[in-house]
Amino acid sequence: MESALTARDRVGVQDFVLLENHTSEAAFMENLRKRFKENLIYTYIGSVLVSVNPYKDLEIYTKQHMERYRGVNFYEVSPHIYAVSDNAYRSMRTERRDQCILISGESGAGKTEASKKILQYYAVTCPASDQVQTVKDRLLQSNPVLEAFGNAKTLRNDNSSRFGKYMDIQFDFRGAPVGGHILNYLLEKSRVVHQSHGERNFHIFYQLIEGGDEDLLRRLGLERNTQQYQYLVKGNCSKVSSINDRSEWKVVSKALTVIGFSEEEVEELLNIIASVLHLGNLQFGTEDSGYAYITTDTQIKYLARLVDVEGAALKEALTHKKIIAKGEELMSPLNLEQAASARDALAKAIYGRTFSWLVNKINHSLAFKDEQFPSSKNTSVIGLLDIYGFEVFQQNSFEQFCINYCNEKLQQLFIELTLKSEQDEYESEGITWEPVQYFNNKIICDLVEEKFKGIISILDEECLRPGDASDITFLEKLESTLGGHAHFVTHKLADGKTRKVMGREEFRLLHYAGEVNYNVNGKKDGRDRSSGEEDVTCQSENKILSQCFDKEELSDKKRPETTATQFKTSLAKLMEILMSKEPSYVRSHVCLSPALVLIRHQVKYLGLMENLRVRRAGFAYRRRYEVFLQRYKSLCPGTWPNWQGRLPDGVSTLVKYLGYKPEEYKLGRTKIFIRFPKTLFATEDALEVRKHSLATKLQACWKSYSQRSKYLKMRHAAIVVQAWWRGILARRVAKRRREAANTIRRFIKGFIFRKHPRCPENEYFLDYVRYSFLMTLKRNLPKTVLDKSWPTPPPALTEASDQLRKLCMQNMVWKYCKRISPEWKHQMEQKMVASEIFKDKKDNYPQSVAKLFVGTRLNGEEINPKVFQALGNEKMKYGVPVTKYDRKGYRARPRQLLLTGTYAVLVEDAKVKQHIDYSTLQGISVSSLSDGLFVLHLPCEDNKQKGDVVLQSDHIIETLTKVAICAEKINNININQGSIKFAFGRGKEGIIDFTPGSELLITKAKNGHLSVTAPRLNSR
Ligand SMILES: Nc1ncnc2c1ncn2[C@@H]1O[C@H](COP(=O)(O)OP(=O)(O)O)[C@@H](O)[C@H]1O
Ligand SMILES: [Mg+2]
Repeated sequence: MESALTARDRVGVQDFVLLENHTSEAAFMENLRKRFKENLIYTYIGSVLVSVNPYKDLEIYTKQHMERYRGVNFYEVSPHIYAVSDNAYRSMRTERRDQCILISGESGAGKTEASKKILQYYAVTCPASDQVQTVKDRLLQSNPVLEAFGNAKTLRNDNSSRFGKYMDIQFDFRGAPVGGHILNYLLEKSRVVHQSHGERNFHIFYQLIEGGDEDLLRRLGLERNTQQYQYLVKGNCSKVSSINDRSEWKVVSKALTVIGFSEEEVEELLNIIASVLHLGNLQFGTEDSGYAYITTDTQIKYLARLVDVEGAALKEALTHKKIIAKGEELMSPLNLEQAASARDALAKAIYGRTFSWLVNKINHSLAFKDEQFPSSKNTSVIGLLDIYGFEVFQQNSFEQFCINYCNEKLQQLFIELTLKSEQDEYESEGITWEPVQYFNNKIICDLVEEKFKGIISILDEECLRPGDASDITFLEKLESTLGGHAHFVTHKLADGKTRKVMGREEFRLLHYAGEVNYNVNGKKDGRDRSSGEEDVTCQSENKILSQCFDKEELSDKKRPETTATQFKTSLAKLMEILMSKEPSYVRSHVCLSPALVLIRHQVKYLGLMENLRVRRAGFAYRRRYEVFLQRYKSLCPGTWPNWQGRLPDGVSTLVKYLGYKPEEYKLGRTKIFIRFPKTLFATEDALEVRKHSLATKLQACWKSYSQRSKYLKMRHAAIVVQAWWRGILARRVAKRRREAANTIRRFIKGFIFRKHPRCPENEYFLDYVRYSFLMTLKRNLPKTVLDKSWPTPPPALTEASDQLRKLCMQNMVWKYCKRISPEWKHQMEQKMVASEIFKDKKDNYPQSVAKLFVGTRLNGEEINPKVFQALGNEKMKYGVPVTKYDRKGYRARPRQLLLTGTYAVLVEDAKVKQHIDYSTLQGISVSSLSDGLFVLHLPCEDNKQKGDVVLQSDHIIETLTKVAICAEKINNININQGSIKFAFGRGKEGIIDFTPGSELLITKAKNGHLSVTAPRLNSR
């Protein structure tokens, strides 16, 4: 809206309320013209949409346009029929109030188009489901059917609706269209039998003849030539360039199937349409008696077949009328004129009632069937009223009278609902208000409909009056009753000037929209049923007709209501319906001349200037406090989230916070009034922004809540798992402790009973001790034979331990022995011998243990070959250098001691000095000290032998061991303390004295003994 304001010089304002000079009709027209030139056909007066028929296709009804208006505030986008539709729809949804959209305007102004656009808008933009889709289709398809049967070409409009239509669209709680209902008003039945020049009968006749296939036409007895039918030639205009009857026929046929007509129903419907055409071609002749008779028997034949009645009964009905005299029914013949009018009346009645049947049938198909909640009335309604506008012709008959009466009523409603109620509301709300002068047309409505005094009452009275009631008596009655009424004039009552433009059979009504002369001729046709021709249709076997013409109704003796009264009643009902809903208005205009002359009077007809004046004086927007507060409370911290105090205070706080200036609003008793739309828009925009932040906050809260509950759940789960796991661990520990305690207890008990024989109390302990000893043993077994360590066994195992120790030792020895080489074995054997002889006896023995014995200390080169010769076959086993001490002087002489298998020799260079057979060797003596002296004891008897030999070897232990082994004298070695005696020669003795000293010293002592001082090696 605000953006459109900048362009207002070129295209005018899009709301007349914004006109500078709002009281000027010229300014109003100028604005309309400016906009129309730019193809802007829609303009607002407040919330009333004013539209001008463009008579060309404008690209403003596309799906994109629908989307643009969907859910958008009325004032935010440029005026459009979709904005009105959407506003009504949203009001219905948010406020849950039924809505109605009143479309008014002259014939050809675009009312029907507008209603179709609205319907399309709902079909496209409302939510849908499969079931809803069929309802949408039916709602949309009901239009072509109704238009075929109820629309016709007129001078004004090639597709003029010849009936009034009020359509309810039902929406379910989700806002999806789920059903519909149509009320129809006053079909222009006269068109069936007569059309003015340049006009046509209802479309369906032409469509059937042009579009129906050959077979169908043959069955209906029709020819494909509209000129053949009397009811179609009156207007002399059967072909119209803008209408393609053939393709329309296809559309209608398809629509009938969509709505749910069965094939038989279509057939019977067409039978009726055809029978109307045949009726029109009925001709009468006059008998001599002056009474009429039927001259066209073929037509009767067709008729009888099509509507399924007997030909004779039909003939009778068309040429006679039923009169009731003194309670008896009599058939009186008709003259030619009467018969023709009876025929036309029948045609009209048949067509009219068939049309009503059709509407009924469509209503059945549109009816909302709530399968889930059959009894609930859970629907909201948007009503669409598309009703003929004010009409003024050269000759205005009963129909124009009804139409204009209807428009008076609508104008009254419009006035009441907008102007008057607005003013009343300001008053009741205690808001200062400058009264606006407007024309209240209640006076005209009363003139027509008032009881006893109104035109309709007088007409009823005239019709009921027995005797020859004529149109003239009716006029006189009107004059006598209504003469002097400001809005009623007749030729007789008029002044001279008016008389010139009035016929004598006319009366004039001064409508709000202008003056109209109505002809009283045929007014009494309004009685509807004239004679007895309709009785015959009751006999019809045609299913539709038998439903349309109820036998009981027709045989009812009571006078039926006249058409006028019926119309009055149905209008009153319509007003009630409309009053119960919240109205939106669309005011349509025809625009035929560039100068917009035509529009000027339409502006007047529609009371637009009055409307504008009221709008400008008043407030653009009002809402009850609770509604206003509920909607906008989030915009002010003081009212959010809830206002606790009085509602007016809450609203006052809110608007002050929003920065409303005092002239922008007023607070009434129950409502707030906002003067300018822009104030409201600003608030609405702020709400839009606020909504986002509220949504974000809600989202955040929800997210945090959901995350937190998720987290708490996880935490709880973790705690449960933890607790279980801790339990398991604790139970394990406890179990181990218990076991440990048991073990310790058993251990202690076992310890106490350890000395007892094996019994249950100590068996564990004993086993454990055994086990642990064995395990310790296993780890600490001696590694070598020399390793003497051995774990101390517990008392109970001493024996086993010894056994084991022995076994172990044996095993080690065995293993050791297995590994031992023959040389080593030999060595060891010798060492064993040495040990047996010297161990613990001779001082230098320990030093010798570690030194290996060698095979010989003299090798081949050191021994003279002659010695070897002397040895002969004996093999030398060991040789060692020794020192020989003379027996007498104890002179030391170097010698070699060689051992063989059977003897030993002492050698000096190449000479064997002494030969000692082992068998002669009596013994060997050594000292216990560390010296190397030894004495070989030999017998002295033998001359050859010179007695015992005193020798000294540096390897005493080795040398003596070898000698002992070779000579097998192991047990013959004497180890002496102190001194050794030896013999030389017969009875001669020598003595060797051994004394420990610091170093080895061998000398001849003064006493003639050989004195040997030997160092002490081992302290003993
Ligand atoms: N919005 C529109 N856009 C284009 N053409 C329109 C529009 N409204 C009406 N017309 C034209 O005007 C003709 C008459 O409109 P219609 O709605 O039948 O008038 P009404 O119902 O008021 O007598 C339509 O057939 C169509 O050609
Ligand atoms: Mg129309």
